[in-house]
Amino acid sequence: MSSWGNRVKISIFGESHGAAIGVVIDGVEPGLELDMDDIYLNMGRRAPGKDPAATPRREADKPNILSGVLNGVTTGAPICCMIENTNTRSQDYGNLMTKPRPGHADYTGYIRYHGFNDIRGGGHFSGRLTAPLVFAGTICRQQLKKRGVAIASHISSVGEIYDAPFNPVKIDDELIQRLNQKSFPLINEGVESEMRALIEDARMNRDSVGGIIECCATGLEPGLGNPMFEGVESLVSSIMFGVPAVKGVEFGTGFNITKMRGSQSNDPYRYENGKVITSSNNNGGILGGITTGMPIIMRAAIKPTASISQVQNTVDLSTKENTTLEVHGRHDPCIVSRASVVIESALAIALVNLY
Ligand SMILES: Cc1cc2nc3c(=O)[nH]c(=O)nc-3n(C[C@H](O)[C@H](O)[C@H](O)COP(=O)(O)O)c2cc1C
Repeated sequence: MSSWGNRVKISIFGESHGAAIGVVIDGVEPGLELDMDDIYLNMGRRAPGKDPAATPRREADKPNILSGVLNGVTTGAPICCMIENTNTRSQDYGNLMTKPRPGHADYTGYIRYHGFNDIRGGGHFSGRLTAPLVFAGTICRQQLKKRGVAIASHISSVGEIYDAPFNPVKIDDELIQRLNQKSFPLINEGVESEMRALIEDARMNRDSVGGIIECCATGLEPGLGNPMFEGVESLVSSIMFGVPAVKGVEFGTGFNITKMRGSQSNDPYRYENGKVITSSNNNGGILGGITTGMPIIMRAAIKPTASISQVQNTVDLSTKENTTLEVHGRHDPCIVSRASVVIESALAIALVNLY
C-alpha cells in the first residue's frame, strides 16, 4: 500500500510521468499556520536540478493545496496536495517496457502488477514520489516544532568519504538551523569538494555512488512509543523503508554496537538540572521502543542510483531472451544529497504518529 500511519496518515498517489503526483494527509491538527516558505525550501532541497550533483531534469515541484487549509491555516480536515508533472520525457523509457533495468523496480513491478504498471520514469516506484512525502513531512515538522522538537540530517558518507558524526548527546540548535538550509548538508564542509569529486567521477564513468544519511531529532520528551511491534524503531524503520533506494536503517551506534562491551555500550544515567540524561547515547535515544529523552539518532543507507547509462545485462521479457540495456534519460549519479530532506520528512511523520 502507499498509505502509512494511523494518527497522522499519509496516502501518496501518482506516477512519475502521469498527470500529477500528490498526497492526502489525514489527522493534521487544526489551527496550524503553515509556513509556506519552509515548505518551498524543503521541496527545493529535494527537487532535481537545484544542486550540481543532481539530475539536470528540472521540475517546478509546486505544491497545489486542494483541501484542508483555509487562509493558510489547517482546518483539521484531510489535506490534499497535488504536484503537477511538467517536465517528462517518456520516450527515454520506451525499451524498459520489456527490458527491466537492473537495480530498479521494473521487473518486480511488472511481475507484481501483471505488466499493467506504468513503467515511464519508474511510475509509482519513482524517486519523484518523495516530493509529496517531503510536503507531508514538512507539515509534520511544523507540528513538532510547536512541541520543541527539531529534526536535521547530514550526508554522513558518499562512498568511502565521511563527514563528521553528530555529537549524539548534544546537538546544537545552530547546527540544526544551518543543516536545514542546505541541499548538500555537511557538518564538516571541508569534505564537500572530495564528495563532489567522487560523484563527478561516477558521472564521467556513466556510473553511480551511494552513501549514508545521518538524521537526528532533538527535544523529544522521554516515554513516547510502545514496546515490541509499535516501538519507535519499528515505526521509524517501516516508513524509512518506504523511501526508494533505502537499503538499511540503524539507530544509535547501530551495527557497530556489536563490537563494544556492555560496559561501553550502556548509556549511564545522571541528573542534570533536575532532568535524567545519559552521558553517552549508543542506543540512539530509544530503549524498549520508547524514547529516553536523548536525541534520536538514526542512519539510512542509500544505494547507488540504479539507472546508469553503461551497457548492462538484462532480459527481454517479451522474447524471453538474454539481452543488454543502455539506460537513457536524466538520472543523478548520486541521490544521497536529495534524499537527506526525504529522510528528515519520513522521521517527522513517524514522530508525529507517536504523540
Ligand atoms: C530523491 C530520490 C531520487 C531518485 N532518483 C532516481 C533516479 O533518478 N534514477 C534511479 O534509477 N533511481 C532513483 N531513485 C531510487 C529508485 O526510485 C529506487 O531505487 C527504485 O524504486 C527501487 O527501489 P529500491 O531501491 O528501494 O529497492 C531515487 C530515489 C530518491 C529517494
